[in-house]
Amino acid sequence: ERQIWLTRHGESTDNIIGRIGGNACLSAKGRRFAECLAKFISKQKIAFRQQQLAKHKADVEAEQQSDPSAIPAPEPPEKNFHVWTSLLQRTIDTVEHIDPKEFGIMHIRFLNEIYAGLYEEMTYREIEQLYPNEYNARKNNKLYYRYPGMGGESYLDVIHRVNPLIVELERMTDNILIVTHQVVLRIILAYFLDVDKESVPDMPVPLHTIYCLEPKPYGTKLTKWRYDE
Ligand code: G3H
Repeated sequence: ERQIWLTRHGESTDNIIGRIGGNACLSAKGRRFAECLAKFISKQKIAFRQQQLAKHKADVEAEQQSDPSAIPAPEPPEKNFHVWTSLLQRTIDTVEHIDPKEFGIMHIRFLNEIYAGLYEEMTYREIEQLYPNEYNARKNNKLYYRYPGMGGESYLDVIHRVNPLIVELERMTDNILIVTHQVVLRIILAYFLDVDKESVPDMPVPLHTIYCLEPKPYGTKLTKWRYDE
């Protein structure tokens, strides 16, 4: 039993004006989400530990009943709880209130948002007006469309870049919270929930929504929380 918690960064100042890419900071609302996220995840960590200990107690009692001479198993150690963000400021700011003594916090470039190349820091409206052919090419084939300019990425590129992290997540038995971006979150959710590649670019993954994935022997259980002010 383990949990993979996922969310996008809190609302950024660029989200408010609809700018893509860039490296903006959080808006006031985004900062409030960050405060709430720290409290929320800390509570979830405690709840998980309580459940783990309750299960252990029940197992020990059941064993004692079937064999009163059995030596009770010791309490299991608490699972490590990792927090991964991208290298972009808005995800780093979103974990600002999470206690690094309780959670192992790491910042990973592979979790960065899709890189929009020449169109970084533009709005979709600006792209549509200035580069209508490119805009339509992406609209017609969002999965394969690669943004022009040095380092520009497509969804497929991001799928390949995120893949080693997904392999690591599959292997891992610890709990984890990943704070990342819309495209990366779509890809991770799609992998665990078995969504086909073609549907990934249109999956609704709003801001201020926290997802919990619990891998089970026959599929993954999904629970969602929505932060509401
Ligand atoms: O720039 C980042 C956006 O979150 C990507 O969203 O792929 O739906 O255009 P989109």
